[in-house]
Amino acid sequence: MTGIISTVSPAQHRAVIGSGATDLASLPAHIRRDPGAHRVVTGDRPTGPLHLGHYIGTLANRVRLQNLGVPVTVIVADYQVITDREETGPLRDRVRTLIAEYLAAGIDPRRSVIVAHSSVPALNQLMLPFLSLVTDAELHRNPTVKAESLASRRSLSGLLLTYPVHQAADILGLRGDVVPVGRDQLPHVEVARTIARRFNARYGPVFVEPDALLTATPAVLGVDGAKMSKTRGNTILLGAGEDETAAAIRGARTDGLRHITFDPHSRPQVANLLSIVGALVHRDPCDVAEQIGDGGAAALKDLTIETVNESLRDLRRRRGDLLADPGYLDEVLLAGTTSALATCCDVLQQVRRAMAMGMDYLQA
Ligand code: TRP
Repeated sequence: MTGIISTVSPAQHRAVIGSGATDLASLPAHIRRDPGAHRVVTGDRPTGPLHLGHYIGTLANRVRLQNLGVPVTVIVADYQVITDREETGPLRDRVRTLIAEYLAAGIDPRRSVIVAHSSVPALNQLMLPFLSLVTDAELHRNPTVKAESLASRRSLSGLLLTYPVHQAADILGLRGDVVPVGRDQLPHVEVARTIARRFNARYGPVFVEPDALLTATPAVLGVDGAKMSKTRGNTILLGAGEDETAAAIRGARTDGLRHITFDPHSRPQVANLLSIVGALVHRDPCDVAEQIGDGGAAALKDLTIETVNESLRDLRRRRGDLLADPGYLDEVLLAGTTSALATCCDVLQQVRRAMAMGMDYLQA
């Protein structure tokens, strides 16, 4: 799990992005040849502060791709917060925190674009033609929609049902052709590919079918042994203090075996701490296990605490500094959104032209 990418079968368009040290050589050939000719589109719904799972699973990879020369567009999907809830929550604070966390992690606003989704109406205008390209059976079959619907314990809303189409509009509307995702999000990228293909077949070539870039890192578990997630309250927040981090990790479940081994199947909690350390310092978790040997859970936790706090120290300091300057965070978002507006309006214009029904007849 070192390099960024290796190809997964059978579909060629899926590559695997790893969590370790990465270099240009490990990207898929077509991106490697000309990183600047591609565009990563990715995003988060601002439903709360980011945690270690986000950092290891996605954020660090976005920064790597950016640093390898691929332009990155990050959507702050504020308008989509209500996909699985009624309230939007304290959006302004949450969005500022998210931007501070992106920037603190290394997203560079001179090279990457951070977009407020709700301020780009053209993204929603793409929904109408896109919805005409999918059937209700396809939407109902989507495994990610099914899983999210079950998890929300509410009846399936039209918004959740069509969520993959909204995400397709974001990706295609901002001209993304590379979408880094976890395995569970693959079906969403498939929908974007299907829509691009069908649109092009029906109206002529406007869209590139986006490639999914699979994150190789296994989902980071929370301190209770379940997947790390905000709703479970088992997270280690990027913004947590060092003592708070230490307390959370010390309280993490492990097992009674003194000899530490990396065995994700029979010792998932121990393996999780080893994976966290491995991902943060770019080491094989088996080596980390060997280093601890008979030190038991206490030594493993000490090492995890030290590694997490050390790896996040600079990020946390920058995060604090950035949060103290909300005017700057707003500026970054405004500049990114302005640039995304131009991209998406242009795409929408092409869409109307391609539909060849004089959809642009009122425009000069
Ligand atoms: N679906 C993502 C989430 O729930 C956010 C998102 C919105 C996104 N649009 C996107 C991700 C486009 C990738 C590409 O957090």
